[in-house]
Amino acid sequence: MEFPKLRPRRLRLKENIRRLVRETTLTLDDIIYPIFVRYGHNVVEEVPSMPGVFRYSLDKLADAVKEVADLGIKAVILFGIPEKKDEVGSDTWSDDGIIQRALRLLKKEVPEMYLITDVCFCEYTTHGHCGVLCGDTVCNDETLENLKKQVVSHAKNGADMVAPSGMMDGMVKAIREALDEAGFSHIPIMSYSAKFASAFYGPFREAAESAPSFGDRRSYQMDPANAREALKEVLLDVQEGADIVMVKPALAYLDIISKVKEMILLPVCAYNVSGEYSMIKAAGRLGWIDEKKVMVETLLSMKRAGADMIITYFAKDVAKMIIKGE
Ligand code: PBG
Ligand code: ZN
Repeated sequence: MEFPKLRPRRLRLKENIRRLVRETTLTLDDIIYPIFVRYGHNVVEEVPSMPGVFRYSLDKLADAVKEVADLGIKAVILFGIPEKKDEVGSDTWSDDGIIQRALRLLKKEVPEMYLITDVCFCEYTTHGHCGVLCGDTVCNDETLENLKKQVVSHAKNGADMVAPSGMMDGMVKAIREALDEAGFSHIPIMSYSAKFASAFYGPFREAAESAPSFGDRRSYQMDPANAREALKEVLLDVQEGADIVMVKPALAYLDIISKVKEMILLPVCAYNVSGEYSMIKAAGRLGWIDEKKVMVETLLSMKRAGADMIITYFAKDVAKMIIKGE
């Protein structure tokens, strides 16, 4: 059959039918909100390059997360900024660590919230790299030992899921074994499987105080030019026991999300990173684009590419939009 019998526009003529044939939707069920918790008292500070995103001290955290819960968001991923950094990032496995204290507090104050922890070292080390240094690079296997301590400590203090983001070889296997041995075989691992060495992380590094003090992350994060290598990283994480795999950043890597989704049967998470957020907020503020519409279109593109869930700084904006029914 062909035109004039075939007329695709028939299915676009009214909102009702457009909704009936819609293939993907944005729902709060699939949204994870990143939260920055820091040392100090009475601190609620906006990240300059990320309007609408704040860093909270512990005494302000529960109220912030309650607000998120009241908006209908069901999961958060926690990032910590500790008072004291050291060479190895020992705050990450201390019971007095910033994340451990946040976990205990939130489990008590907002028990319905699903708590995911970012598992890495860059916010906690004096040099800002994602593990233990050997000369001017990160040594892989020594870092695995510290990752094990970190995840067990997170699980003990109330984490519902751990999300290792350092791109160390063998990190998922090491973490799975450590959790299982410590009695946490029920805690899932969401691995930052295909994490690219990206300039889109700039605003996050300002927020998390996690920029490397020398060099860059290209000896562990992936080359943005590579797609097949990303699939290899994903397959390795599946073999090692990951429960969910992540692609990061999202917007410039939709091809990777789509390929990963076709290749494996695990849920796929897309990280709509800080620079993607800042670009839209900035252009929106200048009046150059319609911020809300571009936000929705961008997040939908990630769902369409195959993301089952999205970590996004837009979570509260999405929630408010859904509540208002716009
Ligand atoms: C650190 C980490 C980064 C992000 C999440 N965890 C940045 C980095 O590698 O420097 C980026 C998040 C964002 O840009 O929103 N392991
Ligand atoms: Zn890191």
